[in-house]
Amino acid sequence: MSVTVPKASRLDDRVVVITGASSGVGRAAAHALSELGATVAVVGRNPARTRQVAAEVGGTAYIADFTDLSAVRGLAASLLDDLPRIHVLANNAGGTFRDRTLTRDGYDITFQSNHLAPFLLTNLLLPRLLETAGDSPAGTVRVIQTSSDGNRFGRVRLDALDNRTGLWAAGMRPYGTSKLENILFTRELAKRLRGTGVSTYAFHPGFVATNFGGGGPVIKAMQKVALSPAQGAEPLVRLAGATTVPAPSGNYFDRLTAPGKVNPQANDAELARGLWEASERLAGVAAGV
Ligand SMILES: NC(=O)c1ccc[n+]([C@@H]2O[C@H](COP(=O)([O-])OP(=O)(O)OC[C@H]3O[C@@H](n4cnc5c(N)ncnc54)[C@H](OP(=O)(O)O)[C@@H]3O)[C@@H](O)[C@H]2O)c1
Repeated sequence: MSVTVPKASRLDDRVVVITGASSGVGRAAAHALSELGATVAVVGRNPARTRQVAAEVGGTAYIADFTDLSAVRGLAASLLDDLPRIHVLANNAGGTFRDRTLTRDGYDITFQSNHLAPFLLTNLLLPRLLETAGDSPAGTVRVIQTSSDGNRFGRVRLDALDNRTGLWAAGMRPYGTSKLENILFTRELAKRLRGTGVSTYAFHPGFVATNFGGGGPVIKAMQKVALSPAQGAEPLVRLAGATTVPAPSGNYFDRLTAPGKVNPQANDAELARGLWEASERLAGVAAGV
């Protein structure tokens, strides 16, 4: 049976961290959530755009490039210094990369930007999310992943997480794989957070007219029929701000409805555990859950 996530409530006194908030879906979500009363930590890569959005929503700007895991650690340290409570972490930053390049840390750029960096950030912020859940209404502290319908054409191989092999070293195939990894991460995180009061969801925003895809002519033409950024942000706004989400933690929404269609690998619990353990090793973090 499918369920729909209800509209967001007022979010006064709630603190929301949004990555990828300098543009597109994240920027629109920052606007909507601040209009509902939330304090928004605006995380982006481009300093000018990030500061601009922070100024627009009356939030604080945080700059980090996810192709550098030390920058992610610095980001987490700043957020933990500044925010005594975090009610929602929205792991929204991500994109496609035309060429397979390696990050500063020596990993594939799609894998690190879209999966490994948010994995690390989440684990570094988890102690604060767990503390916040201790005195918040049950189920209102949440970790939300912006995944994609593209998860359906991904393929996760634990022996080739770095996309080093195969014809599809860059572009949409590794992108789909990274979005499938977002769902596997959500599934495993839900399992590890059971009973803690922190819940987690992933969602597909729809096809949205943003900077996604690098703004090439084909994408620009297709975007004429796309959703607006505000429409694309609606699932994130609701998953962050609804008083209750009518689906168990770990679910994947296709826009406002769960369960969304997933790659069969998304339901492989062993794969989810294997991805988590490999990510701990690659990110150099020992998860506390
Ligand atoms: N648009 C769609 O049709 C669509 C469909 C399905 C899923 N999604 C997902 O929606 C999310 C938001 O994308 P969007 O459509 O809003 O695209 P967008 O306008 O390009 O926004 C992407 C955001 O992610 C940030 N980002 C990208 N790579 C980063 C990196 N290496 N380090 C730190 N930040 C990085 C960007 O930062 P800067 O701008 O500061 O560089 C920007 O804030 C992504 O996860 C994307 O996969 C989008």
